Amino acid sequence: MGPLVFTDNLKFGVAVIDSQHRRMVKIVNELLGAVLDHPLAETEDLLLDELVRLASLNFRTEEEWMRRCGYERYEVHAESHAHLLNELVELRNGLFTRAEHLNRKVVIFVRRWLENHLIHSDRELADAIRLCIKSIKGLKGLKADANAKRRRGKRSVGTAP
Ligand SMILES: [Fe+2]
Repeated sequence: MGPLVFTDNLKFGVAVIDSQHRRMVKIVNELLGAVLDHPLAETEDLLLDELVRLASLNFRTEEEWMRRCGYERYEVHAESHAHLLNELVELRNGLFTRAEHLNRKVVIFVRRWLENHLIHSDRELADAIRLCIKSIKGLKGLKADANAKRRRGKRSVGTAP
């Protein structure tokens, strides 16, 4: 099981989410390298803390966008987030640290989950969010046009003879 490479097919297309995903991929790769090489120790605990923090931040960001855009697969997607977060918290809390083969299993599961999630679930979500952002921008543009028109109208009323 090799490291996860952040190629274009993992890209979400929303800058803040992509930067969170990039950092998650980096940490998962470091954990994977560690768990395949030696028993997990304090350094990996810090990595796990950071991964739990990042994952919950990323999931909150995505879920906020899902709500804002009325994403129809919200429940399924959020459930998948909750499931991973649970695994990560259990790993961090040391449930698995007494059995190295379980640590390896969980880290490999996390790596697979992240890849699958980014390629499939997040791809679908990213398409919906990009459409939604476009329509928000479109609405803002329409409002700005209407306001500009109104201002021009007022000005011409004021300057009329
Ligand atoms: Fe997601």
